[in-house]
Amino acid sequence: MSQAPPLIETDDVVLHFPVSGGGALGLTRRAVKALNGVSLSVRPGETIGLVGESGSGKSTLGRALLGLETVTGGHIVFDRAAVTGGKRQELSKIRRETAMVFQDPLNALNPRLTAGEAIAEVLRVHKKVPKDKITDRVAELLQMVGLDPALSARRPQALSGGQCQRVGIARALAVEPKLIVADECVAALDVSIQGQIINLFLDLKEKMNLTLIFIAHDLAIVRRLCDRVAVMYLGRIVEEGPTEAVFSAPRHPYTAALIESIPEIDPTVSLPDAPMQGEPPSPLNLPSGCSFHPRCPYAEPQCSRDPPPTLRRRDDHGWACILDPGQLPRPQTATRLQNA
Ligand SMILES: Nc1ncnc2c1ncn2[C@@H]1O[C@H](COP(=O)(O)OP(=O)(O)OP(=O)(O)O)[C@@H](O)[C@H]1O
Ligand SMILES: [Mg+2]
Repeated sequence: MSQAPPLIETDDVVLHFPVSGGGALGLTRRAVKALNGVSLSVRPGETIGLVGESGSGKSTLGRALLGLETVTGGHIVFDRAAVTGGKRQELSKIRRETAMVFQDPLNALNPRLTAGEAIAEVLRVHKKVPKDKITDRVAELLQMVGLDPALSARRPQALSGGQCQRVGIARALAVEPKLIVADECVAALDVSIQGQIINLFLDLKEKMNLTLIFIAHDLAIVRRLCDRVAVMYLGRIVEEGPTEAVFSAPRHPYTAALIESIPEIDPTVSLPDAPMQGEPPSPLNLPSGCSFHPRCPYAEPQCSRDPPPTLRRRDDHGWACILDPGQLPRPQTATRLQNA
């Protein structure tokens, strides 16, 4: 798997959303700097977790990867087709070969369509099977996501949250995508249902060699599901590597703080020494140098003065910080996460 060329690759992707307002007359041009030079590469069959605080740019990156956002700079290539500045043919390939699963399973489905019709719609639009085979394929897809085909006659309101999310996943699978981007797709579900959906992804990953970009706040889920993890902070990837390496021996102080800041429910585990302070700065006005320096307990004068550090790599594990591997204490919560 590690030798295969990337299925999707981004090079220095920048995405700024222009916003009006600011200044006395409200005429000052400003921009939300949502992505600030993202380079990421995902190989076929890999599941990569995108984590980071709210507003770090995870969803924007996920949408940009599928050509659903126009980038300000940089390049995205999906399976040798250009996503950024791609020709019609290339964009249509991306539409045909990728799918997205959303957070809110109920709202993601059309309330007027039954589960079966919602899946059949995708099969028709993408011309996946002949008309007379659609019903069979719908039943097959429902079974694939662990639902009784008899549920195909139900509308979303008559299904549970977990069932709706499975229908959403079945719709995504109907495309037979090479790549799925799942954006907080279990966040709205009960813990037990979350576990079932994660098991479903693990199963599909094994059976279909699915490539999955899994956006999540929940680090324990990411640890369970993902082969690799990319940690985002204010529109940059500050750390990226094999999940176990990143969780057990983080190389960026932000990753270490993120792991330590997980709400601790186990009274036998002592509280972290240095929980993360404050809120991230506004993406309208990024700090100079490394964006994390105002919150970083290890910041040196050069961290605010010099350009943001680029990702250094060792052992397939990248980090964007002046610190060397091994300089950060190992997270205390690592064991608990591993056992989650
Ligand atoms: N269409 C838009 N116009 C202006 N700003 C936007 C737009 N979409 C996102 N943003 C801003 O871009 C930044 C990144 O947003 P994004 O939704 O990608 O973050 P996120 O990491 O997915 O956060 P969350 O964890 O809350 O989902 C945020 O500051 C957000 O307010
Ligand atoms: Mg988001």
